[in-house]
Amino acid sequence: MPRVLSFVLTTFFCVCTANANDAGENLFLLHCATCHMPAAIGLSGLAPPLLASRGSAVAKSAATDHGRSYLVKVLSFGLVGPITVSGERYSGLMPNFAKLSDSELASIANHLILTLNADVLPAGFAAYREAEFAEVRGKNLQPLDVFKLRRKLESIIPGATATTRSPP
Ligand code: HEC
Repeated sequence: MPRVLSFVLTTFFCVCTANANDAGENLFLLHCATCHMPAAIGLSGLAPPLLASRGSAVAKSAATDHGRSYLVKVLSFGLVGPITVSGERYSGLMPNFAKLSDSELASIANHLILTLNADVLPAGFAAYREAEFAEVRGKNLQPLDVFKLRRKLESIIPGATATTRSPP
């Protein structure tokens, strides 16, 4: 891992362990916030927002079977290829987080969807379970395979690539 990134992550860790109570939030701040920002609003030119209110297809689709499993796969295998979120094109590499345990990955997914995107969830949305991550571990998908799943996501979520921007 590049030294700068490792420094940034360490700094986040020190900050977040002092302030956060929830394991998922803590892990999100440690592993995701560097690129996606602590409140998942994204960083223009680097990483897309992960909030439905900011046009995120992954957040908007979390209540569908495909959307739910897409998030599991992005975290498990990474993603590469151009995507458009809220009118902005991103063409970076989302690293995989296979080094984290199934339980840690489920906590992160729950923080992202149940907490940060609580406003768009249908009643009765079931929390992510460790087993969902355990099931795909070892499947050996490549980031490009996940990109193909992203394409399908766009076709099932109306307006997923719409160019409307929400107010900050
Ligand atoms: C090193 C920077 C970086 C880190 C750290 C990172 N991401 Fe990403 N993430 C990206 C980039 C860049 C993309 C877009 C990839 C592309 O253009 O194909 C992305 C894409 C995504 C997507 C897919 C979004 C979509 O609209 O399809 C999700 C979900 C996601 N990240 C979640 C996370 C979570 C959760 C974490 C922490 C476990 C995390 N990311 C950590 C850079 C990062």
